[in-house]
Amino acid sequence: MNIPFNAPGRQYQILKGEIDRAIASVLESGWYLLGEETATFEQEFAAFCGVAHCVTLASGTDALELALRGTRCRPGSEVITAANAGGYTTYACNLVGATPVYVDIDPKFLQMDLEAAVAAMTERTACIVVTHLYGFAVDVPRLRRLLEAAGRSSVPIIEDCAQAHGAILHGRRVGSFGDLAAFSFYPTKNLGALGDGGALLCNDGEYANKIRQLKQYGWVCKYRSETPFGRNSRLDEIQAAVLRVKLRHLDRFNKRRVEIVEAYREAAEGKLTILSRTDGAFVGHLCVALSDDRDHIRERLEEVGIQTDIHYPILDPDQQIMKKITHITHRLVRSRELVKRVFSLPCYSELSDGERDTICETLSRLVG
Ligand SMILES: Cc1ncc(COP(=O)(O)O)c(C=O)c1O
Repeated sequence: MNIPFNAPGRQYQILKGEIDRAIASVLESGWYLLGEETATFEQEFAAFCGVAHCVTLASGTDALELALRGTRCRPGSEVITAANAGGYTTYACNLVGATPVYVDIDPKFLQMDLEAAVAAMTERTACIVVTHLYGFAVDVPRLRRLLEAAGRSSVPIIEDCAQAHGAILHGRRVGSFGDLAAFSFYPTKNLGALGDGGALLCNDGEYANKIRQLKQYGWVCKYRSETPFGRNSRLDEIQAAVLRVKLRHLDRFNKRRVEIVEAYREAAEGKLTILSRTDGAFVGHLCVALSDDRDHIRERLEEVGIQTDIHYPILDPDQQIMKKITHITHRLVRSRELVKRVFSLPCYSELSDGERDTICETLSRLVG
């Protein structure tokens, strides 16, 4: 038996007819960049998330970097982020020259501790990046209230939604809460392309204009560069067409992911902690488990052919590169505890019922 940790090719097989038709239509059109598919996907994804603007980009990393530039982050600006968010905000800060400021996580869903984020603000704080990690929606409206109470309501909030496409909190999709929201369409994401891709969402037309300039050489119109730090960051027409197909199925696929996590949680009840919620605010990007016996359990699962992984094995401030990058680290007691205990189980909508049941049985036997 071999149950891979990820298997993006399976989704292609399920949607093959629709995807093949969408790709063929782009090939026949002879128009491969900045065309109708991209413009339509931008409209459809903005409408899906409940925001006014979507600007597609080449990757989620570009989306984070351009979000920082959009909020006027510059060398020396401070950017508040959770220490366990996988490094992506750190890389974006590095590109901009900003100083990442690491805060701890909440004990329930292991997301940014919002009180700690507000307490970490200084006069140099340019923005707060909230990552909806593992697919759990962070309560961004609550962060806004805390900022208001602290007299800092003008500090922009950037949502990193790369792991939470479609999650709903307080009746709204993630991506609609922040000043800017970054998405990745990396193939294993809940909404994944057949290659790289990303997007920035926002309601503010000025932000959208600036991001559109930055994504294309800093041009304000063809061949007129006025905005510094422009580059080429484009989602191509084939990826946009594929994403339009997959967007139509996203809610159904997300539901299946959460059902799988719930099945694991029930099978491992009382023995192994599996993070889950079923109110729509979780989309099962990763099935995250916690155990003091993590390494042993992973070995046993691997022995029977069940692949696992760790998200993430190293906190951002503990990465080697941080020896050369200015950063600020606050108290990280929970984050440091987490790193020793966390691991992830296979969780994607195309996992068969048989594979799901095998994992459930193995979990209950292993820890029972
Ligand atoms: C939370 C998060 N942010 C940002 C990124 C970066 O996206 P990309 O790989 O498309 O650059 C990823 C993943 O890959 C991610 O998981």
